[in-house]
Amino acid sequence: MNILITAGPTREPIDPVRFISNRSSGRMGVALAEAALARGHAVRLVTGPIAVPAPPAAERVAVVTAQDMLAAVQANLDWSDALIMSAAVADWRPRTPSPLKLKKNRMPAQLEMERTPDILQAVAARKGGRVFVGFAAETGEPEEEARRKLQAKRLDLIVANDVSRADAGFEVDTNRVTLLAADGTVEALPLMLKTEVASRILDWVEAHAGFRA
Ligand code: C5P
Repeated sequence: MNILITAGPTREPIDPVRFISNRSSGRMGVALAEAALARGHAVRLVTGPIAVPAPPAAERVAVVTAQDMLAAVQANLDWSDALIMSAAVADWRPRTPSPLKLKKNRMPAQLEMERTPDILQAVAARKGGRVFVGFAAETGEPEEEARRKLQAKRLDLIVANDVSRADAGFEVDTNRVTLLAADGTVEALPLMLKTEVASRILDWVEAHAGFRA
């Protein structure tokens, strides 16, 4: 299969030296890429600024902003049989980034913000027979929110995790996730290494992909 994976955060500029981002390290997406390559799949890995090395065997597309990541996903979607959106796309960006560094005594007290494009929603109409997998990092009711996102983003599978726990979610090697599928099946996995979580997600993708020649 040809698997398109996104990983890491995006960065939304305030000025040439400052940005808005999040704590995503890219570990989950890189683990998915490594597991997919080990199974003989071709991988294109779209990365924001990640804190871990990307596997050399993946075709890498490095991006910075949500807008860049959207363009990279759109450009590689036709090639793919499955899209796994493990990136933590920044939800908001400054409406008008300054082309010059803002002086510290001239920083505005408030930044005017706007939403970034929702990548999954933007490519939903081009889904065709592809498998779409999303992630839902929550601090409240992970499963309830994930179910809502599964439907809103027309996903086949959503991987829900509670990022308020110290041993799961951002910046650690372990994760505790629940897999919720569009057909209503729910599988709560115990705490495991992100490499093992990646393997379980790929098992699901392989079982549900409509392999195109
Ligand atoms: O709505 P929320 O950001 O929680 O949804 C998470 C899922 O949607 C993740 O798979 C993430 O990669 C994807 N996403 C996206 N475009 C955005 C924000 C999130 O595709 N702007």
